[in-house]
Amino acid sequence: MRKKLNDNLNSIENDTMEFLNEIAENYPSAISLASGRPDSRFFDLKKIDFYINTYLNFISETQKKPYEALLSNLGQYSDASGIINEIITKYLSVEYGLEISPENILINIGTQESLLISVLTLCNKEEDVIIVEDPCYVGIKNYALIAGYEVSGVKLYTDGMCLDSLEKKIINYKEKGKHTKIVYIVSDFQNPSGIRMSVEKRKQIIELSEKYDFFILEDNAYGDFCFADEIFPTLKKLDKYNRVIYLHTFSKLIYPSVRIGVMVADYKFDDGRSLSNQLKKVKGYTTVNTSSINQAIIAGILIENSFSLKQYNKEKLENLKEKKNLTLDALQKYFRSNSEEWCGNVQWNDPEGGFFMVIDLPFKVTREDVIICAEVFGVIFTPMSFFQLDEINEKNIRIAYSNIKEDKIITAVERLYNFLKNKHENGKKECRIGTS
Ligand SMILES: Cc1ncc(COP(=O)(O)O)c(C=O)c1O
Repeated sequence: MRKKLNDNLNSIENDTMEFLNEIAENYPSAISLASGRPDSRFFDLKKIDFYINTYLNFISETQKKPYEALLSNLGQYSDASGIINEIITKYLSVEYGLEISPENILINIGTQESLLISVLTLCNKEEDVIIVEDPCYVGIKNYALIAGYEVSGVKLYTDGMCLDSLEKKIINYKEKGKHTKIVYIVSDFQNPSGIRMSVEKRKQIIELSEKYDFFILEDNAYGDFCFADEIFPTLKKLDKYNRVIYLHTFSKLIYPSVRIGVMVADYKFDDGRSLSNQLKKVKGYTTVNTSSINQAIIAGILIENSFSLKQYNKEKLENLKEKKNLTLDALQKYFRSNSEEWCGNVQWNDPEGGFFMVIDLPFKVTREDVIICAEVFGVIFTPMSFFQLDEINEKNIRIAYSNIKEDKIITAVERLYNFLKNKHENGKKECRIGTS
């Protein structure tokens, strides 16, 4: 048997997520500042039956259909674009002020499927390029690389992607006969950096999308977890040209195992075809349809909460903010309360929302350091280099505070401090020898 696999798998040989999962398994007593998972203490699993019933009763009453028939339908194959689109329409309107018609909505298996379908529907491998923020969430980059598409990064500043560099890159590609088809943006509290795009840049990139004829894939996985007073409008809300494909997920808002994501696409091509229809066609041949049972759970939660998840997630948001503040306090305690010079060169951001922050270090950290830190010092972090494309900077790390218990934060940061102090003083070789 020929054992040759897809050559593109080489491009994700150093799969970061697999690496971090292995470390967590190999060193179970290490505290993880690497896991960007939502906190499972908030998972609302006991009421699954109740929510499914809420949905069935709602449809039965509003559409005058028998409950039993609706129930048995939940076990059946269903429409590729989804069965709860009307309810999602209402939710998008109440929660985000987005007025979207149901036929421009697809209910997908998480945002990951929305990314995959977007790339498959829009891009030609030889002609098109996908541009992402650098650093970038690995879900799109690695999928595109496995599938053989060209992906390129544009530097991310503290107010979002550098739009001058984006423009230059688009023009450079054009000169080489390549077209930028997708620009992928996590507009709020980006994974891995925690930054959000300024409103000014949001407006500018919408104009660029029309000028250079590309689609913006807006991934709003974290926008609801805003700690600041001011919530910025989504790119979709500012979208004058229907060029934003808006991706929403319930993975962080409800729980990830429900695997429900929402994709909004309302672009119409000159020849009259609608983008949503093309996306639907592709979805039909990738995953057929999204689980009706899981759609019913989400719909039930939305109906029960009057189509807004703000109150439903109030405690979750407060907890997340508390954990971010505890992390900041711990960093302050360990890196600012002594006069060691290297500590002064450890800097961090204070994200206005989301699950992540970045710590800049005075020295490099490698994959090997991650193992040493877990094994010897008992804490796991993620080097930012895992998320970078073109410009590899090994002198910073991502800290996820979403899935750590409050009382573990101080110990985790203390352990991180000990690791960095040891590395600063001795280098990693001695740090191994010293503890063996
Ligand atoms: C930016 C971003 N988008 C999407 C996802 C995954 O979303 P889903 O679970 O809906 O596939 C994640 C998960 O970590 C993420 O950080």
